[in-house]
Amino acid sequence: MGDAADDVVAKRSPYELIGGAEAVRRLADKFYDLMDQDPSYRALRDMHEPDLAPMRDSLAGFFAVWLGGPRDWVEKRGGFCIMSRHAQMGVTNETAAQWMDAMRRAIAALETPPELAEKMDQALAPLAEAMVRRAKA
Ligand code: HEM
Repeated sequence: MGDAADDVVAKRSPYELIGGAEAVRRLADKFYDLMDQDPSYRALRDMHEPDLAPMRDSLAGFFAVWLGGPRDWVEKRGGFCIMSRHAQMGVTNETAAQWMDAMRRAIAALETPPELAEKMDQALAPLAEAMVRRAKA
């Protein structure tokens, strides 16, 4: 492979690496399927509306933007701070741990490239922890 081709590979966004629109949709669906079906996520599930369909759409749209893909979600939603959005939800250590656990399983189920899965984990875990601190403040 020549230098130019290497460069193109190096510049692929996480969104492309994970598999684009279809993959972020599957990620959101897997996450909410797990939350809905696995009783170990009961406390987290109880924080959500009975109908998870709007959140499936929103989480998929959020991840597209977050991973460097199309920004449709921001345009549609007007964009908002994800920390502020969670500030009044009363996120606890318990529900944050459930969120991270379900998200890790969803990422793994997607057969995400291991380096990307690791990076997503390293970025999401501190956010989840910060949501707990923010809720306590
Ligand atoms: C720390 C544990 C977390 C808990 C307990 C939690 C809980 C929730 C709940 C209950 C909702 C639905 C709110 C509603 O029905 O109006 C929601 C929405 C959402 N969450 Fe979280 N969340 C957590 C972490 C995160 C993280 C780390 C991210 C991404 C960085 C995230 C991204 C989202 C998005 C994009 C939505 C949809 C917001 C919307 O469309 O208005 N959440 N979350």
